[in-house]
Amino acid sequence: MLGTKTFAMIKPDAVEGGHVGDILQSVTTAGFKISALEMTQMTPNQAQQFYAIHKERPFFNDLVAFVTRGPIVAAVLEKENAVADFRALIGATDPAEAAAGTIRKRYAKSVEENAIHGSDSNENAWIEIDFHFAEKSQF
Ligand code: RTP
Ligand code: MG
Repeated sequence: MLGTKTFAMIKPDAVEGGHVGDILQSVTTAGFKISALEMTQMTPNQAQQFYAIHKERPFFNDLVAFVTRGPIVAAVLEKENAVADFRALIGATDPAEAAAGTIRKRYAKSVEENAIHGSDSNENAWIEIDFHFAEKSQF
């Protein structure tokens, strides 16, 4: 049975650290099907759009600089209850608060350089999938 979809992004810190393979292994071991996958680098303009919800936050400029400093890996993941289950798999935003065994506990360096992004609602999953993949594929 097809599940629901979520959008994942392995952030530049985890790409730089050589963790893409290990993270994708964890994702598939946790039962997600990878439906689309691309390594790319966001422009500042794209990052500002992607994180527009945070544009008034004090960390916004640092966040844009961080996510654009190198390649990211964007993915569409499919599983029953994909959004909530993927948020559980990646763990809390701050790795100090992330549960043992979560991706952020294992690979995040700080609250900002936290290895991976996961959509926080079904609506945002569709928006983010469309943002990254609409022009490239059927997603
Ligand atoms: P994400 O959107 O990347 O999946 O992360 P999240 O939902 O767990 O956290 P969110 O509140 O949406 O924050 C987005 C990203 O901004 C950076 N951040 N920096 N310096 C700071 O205090 C701070 N707080 C958040 C992180 O990269 C966070 O994932
Ligand atoms: Mg978020």
